Amino acid sequence: MKKKFIYALALAGLFSVSLKAQTPIYLDDNKPIEERVKDALSRMTLEEKVKLCHAQSKFSSAGVPRLGIPELWMSDGPHGVREEIQWNSWADAGWTNDSCTAFPALTCLAATWNPEMSAIYGKAIGEEARYRKKDVLLGPGVNIYRTPLNGRNFEYMGEDPYLASIMVVPYIKEVQKNGVAACVKHYALNNQELWRGHIDVELSDRALYEIYLPAFKASVIEGGTWSIMGAYNKLHGEHCCHNDLLLNQILKRDWKFDGCVITDWGGAHDTREAALNGLDIEMGSYTNGLTSESEFTYDDYYLATPYRKGLKDGTYPLSTIDDKASRILRMIFRTAMNRQRPWGSFTSEEHYKVARTVAEEGIVLLKNNLVDKKKPALLPIDASKYNKILVVGENASRSLTQGGGSSVLKVKKEVSPLEALQMMYGDKIIHAKGYESGRPMYSHVDEIPTEVVESLRNEAIEKAKEADLVIYVGGLNKNHQQDCEAADRITFGLPFGQNELIEGILKVNPNMVMVLMSGNAVEMPWIKSVPAIVQAWYPGSEAGNALANILCGKINPSGKLPFSFPSKLTDNGAHAFDELSYPGDSIKQIYKEDILVGYRWHDTKKIPALFPFGHGLSYTTFTYGKAVFSTKSMDRKGKIEVTIPVTNTGNIEGKEIIQLYIGDDKCSLLRPLKELKHFDKVTLKPGETQKVKFTITVDDLTFFDDKQYEWIAEPGKFKVYIGSSSTHIHSITEFTLL
Ligand code: BGC
Repeated sequence: MKKKFIYALALAGLFSVSLKAQTPIYLDDNKPIEERVKDALSRMTLEEKVKLCHAQSKFSSAGVPRLGIPELWMSDGPHGVREEIQWNSWADAGWTNDSCTAFPALTCLAATWNPEMSAIYGKAIGEEARYRKKDVLLGPGVNIYRTPLNGRNFEYMGEDPYLASIMVVPYIKEVQKNGVAACVKHYALNNQELWRGHIDVELSDRALYEIYLPAFKASVIEGGTWSIMGAYNKLHGEHCCHNDLLLNQILKRDWKFDGCVITDWGGAHDTREAALNGLDIEMGSYTNGLTSESEFTYDDYYLATPYRKGLKDGTYPLSTIDDKASRILRMIFRTAMNRQRPWGSFTSEEHYKVARTVAEEGIVLLKNNLVDKKKPALLPIDASKYNKILVVGENASRSLTQGGGSSVLKVKKEVSPLEALQMMYGDKIIHAKGYESGRPMYSHVDEIPTEVVESLRNEAIEKAKEADLVIYVGGLNKNHQQDCEAADRITFGLPFGQNELIEGILKVNPNMVMVLMSGNAVEMPWIKSVPAIVQAWYPGSEAGNALANILCGKINPSGKLPFSFPSKLTDNGAHAFDELSYPGDSIKQIYKEDILVGYRWHDTKKIPALFPFGHGLSYTTFTYGKAVFSTKSMDRKGKIEVTIPVTNTGNIEGKEIIQLYIGDDKCSLLRPLKELKHFDKVTLKPGETQKVKFTITVDDLTFFDDKQYEWIAEPGKFKVYIGSSSTHIHSITEFTLL
């Protein structure tokens, strides 16, 4: 009996040893990824390799079933994990377990100026993606805010390449800790939605390298993103999804990107370019170039049968498919075949807290005047003074996670401003819708009958007469031609008759707190008459709670603008030229403002913005002491330490964002007056002083020299501007680069 047992044990041991010995390298997660990639590749047929390179459904690409290598599942991005859709249609799959947490739009995240907020955001959204069994999250977006008419600015991180670079990195890193790849989009120059599928962008190399590429570069080099999404538009006549310069030369050669380039959906147009110019996975293509796909088969993709044939007959080198397949396998090992990855979590209290915290830190107090000399500022609201508070405006009750295009979310919870204010102020709240915008739709706008417009407006004005305070919650929304994919805004002004409504209300009640929900700047003809203005973005699931906490003063606002608000559209650099600059002639466009994007334009051309980049108020006040420089000259290897004491001089705790800009007045090429190079957000108790430190190195002084094709710093004098916004400057100090 005992002998038999020992014999059986020995056999089992042998069997497991021999099983182990047979475990292929690619399945062994103790082996380095590169060895696993090589091993898997060596076992695959050409057909299997090609299959990896294109979609098999709307949101997935194939694995290698014969080898047990799983498929990749993708989902939008970037503010929450999109609902499940059907295998080959955009229609809702009808699942009931896919309602997610909506995190604030990325403009709001950028407005926190706090990389810790990016980290908690990335962690939470990564956990949601993981729980939903996604391998690739289609976000974040870092296209630069060039014009306030771009329908997708809300999905991006503002106008400044440095701010966007700092903010994007923790998002990516934290998402990827979940074994979910970030897919940074849309690489590159998709800075408007109009004609996005074909517009050929012409710009200087300086603008490309200094303004439009740095956030992508940081995503790759510092964030280590595992994937990147090509943009729809063209650069130098070639679509960005298979653009030799952007993909082969800059991304893969210069930045040493080892991940996958995924097309935007339907962004591939040519097999040769797709094969040779650095594209790895083709998604969302249509067989006939039209939007109908009834005869559709995924094998007709540019990177499917046509590519396979070209590889077989020698048109395309086999090295191209080995490179693509290796990258895709690497991504599969990092994600779908990563046994170490955590399980994720979904719609948890912790995630709602993240959504609320980010919103609370990102909401920007634009203006908070005294109503008259004897009365204090309107905000924070002192409810004891008011019997009736009118909440008016469609955005007080409209779901703003609906619409917008691919970032649309099916949410489990979305607290509206009206609900939150009712919870906070109870019976004091009266409500009027004020205006109506129709259903959130992607390619169409509902006509609102004039009688409806007038009756809603009259009702609001009547109610405003009875109220002691008006909280106006309006702005844009996620409708077609608002903050929405596939089209740009058609006017800079507020839509849906809001200006008339606002003027009408102000005539009967000037005690107005204006809350703008939008991902874009808007024209404000009523600015002088409105005492308090809050820019609330699209704050997601906890929208109402975050906003109410700011309005009542439970949270002291600390967000600052990630882009400039011009007074009028032509004050924005892209709109200061003819139509070729914006929107182009439908075939091409020229970025005529060149490197002078956003505040760089306002500053250099001396055109003041209505609200400048970096602006945001607090319920407390801060004073800046004298900036102390460790030295006033440095060589190329040197550094300068700058220390500046900042004091909270008010009565409540607050957070201040200290911004350091550098200007190079004399340079062989044009430079903006100044550029953001460092910032820090500090929390200060009343009366507290903190010394904020920055270190300047030669990297902060360089520009892209398009003759030498490299970043250079010219010796001479530089100016350091320290401010609480790009125009509210507390000190200017000169130093010399030897
Ligand atoms: C958008 C992408 C999105 C993709 C998939 C495209 O229309 O431009 O940002 O990730 O659709 O939904």
